[in-house]
Amino acid sequence: MATGTMFFPSDFLWGTATAAHQVEGNNANNDWWQWEQGTGHILQEHRSGLACNWWENAEADLDKAAEMGTNAHRLSLEWSRIEPEPSRFDKNALERYRQILQAMHDRGIEPMVTLHHFTNPLWLVEKGDFGTAVVVDYFQRYTAKVVEVLGDLVPKWVTINEPLVYVFMRYLEGTFPAPQQKGWPAAGQALRNLLRCHAAAYHTIKERQPEAQVGVAKNLVIFAARPSQGTAARWWAKRLNWLYNEAWMEAMTNGRSRFPFGRGQIPHLAGSYDFIGINYYTRFYAKFPPLGGLLHEEWEPGAVVSDGNYGEVYPDGLFQVIKSVLRYDKPIYITENGVPDIKDEIRPSFILTHLREVWRAISFCFPVMGYYHWSLVDNFEWDRGWTQRFGLIAMNPETQERELRTSGQLYTEICQQNQISSEMVAKYAPQSSDILFPGKAPA
Ligand code: BGC
Repeated sequence: MATGTMFFPSDFLWGTATAAHQVEGNNANNDWWQWEQGTGHILQEHRSGLACNWWENAEADLDKAAEMGTNAHRLSLEWSRIEPEPSRFDKNALERYRQILQAMHDRGIEPMVTLHHFTNPLWLVEKGDFGTAVVVDYFQRYTAKVVEVLGDLVPKWVTINEPLVYVFMRYLEGTFPAPQQKGWPAAGQALRNLLRCHAAAYHTIKERQPEAQVGVAKNLVIFAARPSQGTAARWWAKRLNWLYNEAWMEAMTNGRSRFPFGRGQIPHLAGSYDFIGINYYTRFYAKFPPLGGLLHEEWEPGAVVSDGNYGEVYPDGLFQVIKSVLRYDKPIYITENGVPDIKDEIRPSFILTHLREVWRAISFCFPVMGYYHWSLVDNFEWDRGWTQRFGLIAMNPETQERELRTSGQLYTEICQQNQISSEMVAKYAPQSSDILFPGKAPA
């Protein structure tokens, strides 16, 4: 291996990411909690329960985040806590969020706050949530309230987390809590309403807090055809790429939704974002013809696959997705990137190889301003319960005991030194040294 160092810009944001329901605990007033009580919904019938106990003590993990040398964290607000009944805002809940946000500032950690990360208040579900247009007014009012109360502590807002994942899992796959209606027409309407909610939230924030940076955390996936398949399969993978990756970005850019069953111009949507948030995890192979599902669940020989067949480790894809959004000419944040790996066998190399792609992008002057690793601490992984562990900090949900993983030590060195060195690679992931620092060491 050659020796060397990859330097990062001095103002680069080194972060971690979490979401309210996955870490707070006892979020009993939302649709996920209710879904968890049913049978067959969550692997091994796991429940979020106390989660990581952040509602009581987020500060303990924020201490660790600060010790690690991170200077940013992305978290979400739980709408069902803030507005437990329509139009009744809970002062205590808002006050608790102020404390948490202040605790971040006190530790030198800049908050990025997500307004909607997969969960809905139960009262909103009764009204039809994102399946009906009434959601837009409710979302706008909720946004206005939180910006009014918390805005001075929040420089960066994410309106919606992963709209396509949300819609796909709820309306088409059925692995997320059940909407009143399922299928493509309902999915198209939900996407349209999500776009409208995003536009309403964007303008609500900017009117009250013009200096805030507002965007969406968009899950971007590489869709590929099996290498053994031909032109038609490649064409189909491109169509999926358009539908899943591009159509949302296009709509936010020019104001027009082209989603099937949700088409049409949306007022005030055009240009409604200041940055692009990318959540990147993996590459999928598109099934062609798409019979019995859209995606293959098997990988090519030699692929490194993470726990529970979650996905293939494919760092090059991160560079590709960054490149794919350059045309929008906005700052880019990697708002999530991580891997389920309870034994921490592949995470060190995962972090290094993915950050190499970020560094490569920055070397080309692509405007990548920060990286938020998913996640700071093991947390409740939705329909996969506690079976999948993404944390830099391992956490036992039975005892709440924590331990920094080896990958957490590596991330600490990276954040503290603002660089990746060949020494780190030799220490934490020697098997990846030829990818990170190819060539021979100077004699
Ligand atoms: C979501 C997170 C989730 C992570 C890992 C993202 O799709 O935003 O909530 O835990 O991926 O699966």
